[in-house]
Amino acid sequence: LTLGDLAAALAERESWQLEIGFGKGRHLLRSAVAHPETGFVGIEVAAEYFRLVASRATRQALDNVVLIRGDALQLLSVYLPARFADAVHVYFPDPWPKSRHHKRRLFDPETVDLVVGALRPGGRLFVATDHVEYGEAICAALESHANLRVERLATPWPDGARTNYESKYLEEGRPILRLIGERAPSNSAHDRLHPAGERGIVEAWPRQADPATVVGHVLPGAADPVGRSRAAAERAQHRESSTTGS
Ligand SMILES: C[S@@+](CC[C@H](N)C(=O)[O-])C[C@H]1O[C@@H](n2cnc3c(N)ncnc32)[C@H](O)[C@@H]1O
Repeated sequence: LTLGDLAAALAERESWQLEIGFGKGRHLLRSAVAHPETGFVGIEVAAEYFRLVASRATRQALDNVVLIRGDALQLLSVYLPARFADAVHVYFPDPWPKSRHHKRRLFDPETVDLVVGALRPGGRLFVATDHVEYGEAICAALESHANLRVERLATPWPDGARTNYESKYLEEGRPILRLIGERAPSNSAHDRLHPAGERGIVEAWPRQADPATVVGHVLPGAADPVGRSRAAAERAQHRESSTTGS
C-alpha cells in the first residue's frame, strides 16, 4: 500500500473510522459488517493478528476495510492524513508501565496529539483500559487537551463487550475504564496542541506581538500530509501561472 493507494482508498468514501491495535479484530470486523457505507482503517503491529484479521476480512469479502501492519505512532506521524477519521478506537492499549518507556504509549502527553490529530473536528475517540495507572494517565492527557471534551463512562458500552480483551476482563470481574473524547469543532488551521506539544515548539517565525498566539498553534499544513501536499500543489500552480503569464 503506497501513500497514493491509501489516499485513493480514503477518497472513495465520505466517512472513515480508525482502530489502533485491533488484536483479533472483533470490533473492527463487526463494525465493518454493520456499517458497509463507512470505511474502517485498522492498524496492528503484531503479524499474527494482522494476518488473522486480513484472512477473515477476505473471507467475508469486506470492501470497506483497510488494514496496515506497523507501529501506530510511526504510521500516524508519517503516513495517515490528519483529520481523516470520524472516530478513533483504542481498546486496551499496551500500558508500557516502565517510565522510561512511556513515550511509546499512545496517550503519553508527548504522543497524544498524533492520536487526536487523526480525528476530524467534532470526531470522537473511544478508549478502554483495565490498567489503573495508565487509565489515570490517559484521562490526565486527554482532559488537559484544549481540543477535547472527555467523558468517563459509568456503565459498559451499550453494544456490550467490544473486543476479546474486554470480554475476558469482564468475565474476570476486572474494573474497566471507558472514555469518550470529542474533538472540538474548530478552524482546522488553528487547532491547539496538548500543552506538552506546545512546549515542544522551540521557536516560530514570523513573530507576533504576543508569542503565545504563534507558539501553541499548528501552522497551516504542518503535521498534516494532506495539507502539505495541497500547499505544494498550490506553490506549483503559482509557479506555472507566473511562467505562462496566465
Ligand atoms: C492488549 S492488546 C488489545 C487487543 C484488542 N484491542 C482487544 O481489546 O482485544 C493490544 C494490541 O495492540 C497492539 N499494539 C501494541 N502496540 C502497538 C503499536 N504501537 N501499533 C499498533 N498496534 C500495537 C498489540 O499487538 C495488541 O494486538
